[in-house]
Amino acid sequence: MPVIETTIDTSSEAFRRNRDAMTPLLERLESELERARHARSDKARKRNEELGKLTVARRLDLLLDPDTPWLEVAPLAALGMYEGDVHGAGSRCGIGVVRGREVLVHANDPMVKGGTVYPMGVKKTLRMQAIAMENRLPVVMLVDSGGAYLPLQSEVFPDIDDGGRIFYNQAQMSKANIPQVCAVMGLCTAGGAYIPAMSDHVVHVDRTGAIFLGGPPLVKAATGEDVTAEELGGALVHCRDSGVSDYFASDDADAVRIVRDVVTTLPRTAKAFGPSRAPADPAYDPRELYGIIPPSTTIPYDCREVIARVVDGSEFHEFKALFGPTLVCGWAWIHGYEVGVLANNGILFSDSSQKAAQFIQLCDRMGIPLVFLQNINGYIIGREYERGGITKDGHKMVNAVATSTVPKFTVVVGASFGAGNYGMCGRAYGPRFLWMWPNAKIGVMGGEQAASVLVSVKNDQLAREGQPPLPPEFVEALKGPIMEQADKEGDAWYSTANLWDDGILDPARTRDVLGLAISAAANAPLEGRKVGYGTFRM
Ligand code: COA
Repeated sequence: MPVIETTIDTSSEAFRRNRDAMTPLLERLESELERARHARSDKARKRNEELGKLTVARRLDLLLDPDTPWLEVAPLAALGMYEGDVHGAGSRCGIGVVRGREVLVHANDPMVKGGTVYPMGVKKTLRMQAIAMENRLPVVMLVDSGGAYLPLQSEVFPDIDDGGRIFYNQAQMSKANIPQVCAVMGLCTAGGAYIPAMSDHVVHVDRTGAIFLGGPPLVKAATGEDVTAEELGGALVHCRDSGVSDYFASDDADAVRIVRDVVTTLPRTAKAFGPSRAPADPAYDPRELYGIIPPSTTIPYDCREVIARVVDGSEFHEFKALFGPTLVCGWAWIHGYEVGVLANNGILFSDSSQKAAQFIQLCDRMGIPLVFLQNINGYIIGREYERGGITKDGHKMVNAVATSTVPKFTVVVGASFGAGNYGMCGRAYGPRFLWMWPNAKIGVMGGEQAASVLVSVKNDQLAREGQPPLPPEFVEALKGPIMEQADKEGDAWYSTANLWDDGILDPARTRDVLGLAISAAANAPLEGRKVGYGTFRM
């Protein structure tokens, strides 16, 4: 298989400039992750200790097999939102290995506002459930939450994608034979009681864990009855009297041990596909990506330089290399798994869109997962291209992306603008996972373009009214705030805070993260590959 030959000069001025621009972004990523995992108030820490509870980090350590990979999902959800300290939207989530089996873990953090559920917390839980359902991963929930964050209750309760959906999904997962194991390590109050109730296996920690529909204050107010949390819904009540819980645990560590035992008993299913080759490191150091990626999404570079640092041995079997050159397509291996790679090398034209549609059909037929390296400003526009049917050809690509059934993975390595986001498998197109690089930008269009469109709309309006166009100082005053807002709301930090992605990736970790994600995806059978036609040559 041909190895991509690099043309990068790592001693060049451009390489140094690019790396200098990437360095502060990587430093910010490290420090935000550190803060999200460990910055907790002394008060919250003290309270956790008083109650004899372990920290979430310690619970995860005990749960996961030693020295196995942990693919954390959305660690920076809710970054900068609310009071700025609802770290990870109140939970740690990810895919880890328990007794040799990949499971999806969702652990509330009681040291973040009592583990209460903010709107982003609901969104994160629903995302976790989507990952479990799509990839058919058993779920482990370490529950320790004060339930809905009451000051924002209207935003977490009533709608189709609010709190109720979590319990609905739990019922669907149980029906679909996706096991859910729940450890009750704190209060499960009101709606929160349904997290264990809807689970298939419930472990309950003595003294700290309690499940009830109405807590002691509510019971007192409603019935006048004086009752402690433990008497109302503690481990003994539910393991011995009510049968709500299945396993009595003496403390957190005991609960985690029982959860591991339960996971061991779950039936094992064969994976749908596996590695077809021995993994091999890329021929070039992935850290060179820091000097390859330009600071601005408008500066072009050859995406093969990225592929060369993401795939095994930098080997790449390129498809239709001379046709539709602004989209590079081809086959490669990542940690031994064969994948079809699509990477942008400029704007999408009719030929590159047709090539994408054909390549996606081929991979879908062959059951080969797709990896999109997205860096796209959009589809070409203009009279000539409209006449050439760019909309029709873009449709073929978007249609193929939407309806292909193999697992898809998207890494936004640069720009993610307009319909290009759709064609290159943006979030709405169902990639099993989607990550952003720290330099990535996302939006309908860039700030400058959005501002220019609005100025031209205004000038057209003025012209219709027989007035002169906006004077330059007004143009600047109109454009400034629009550009500022688009820039702020279009960066990777804003995206990850809003859970538009599954996390921001250090570019050098891309291959490893993709490998873990592809391995997790192989837990779900490849379905729906019975298409009614052969592959259309485009
Ligand atoms: N909504 C908003 N804030 C809440 C909350 C809720 N449901 N539950 C707890 N909090 C806040 C507390 O006000 C406190 O905030 P602070 O740190 O700014 O003072 C923080 O979370 C920690 O709560 P605290 O009671 O000090 O900690 P604890 O470890 O002793 O107890 C709980 C934690 C969750 C067991 C307890 O706070 C509780 O019972 N909360 C109410 C649960 C409930 O009835 N929820 C119903 C919603 S469906």
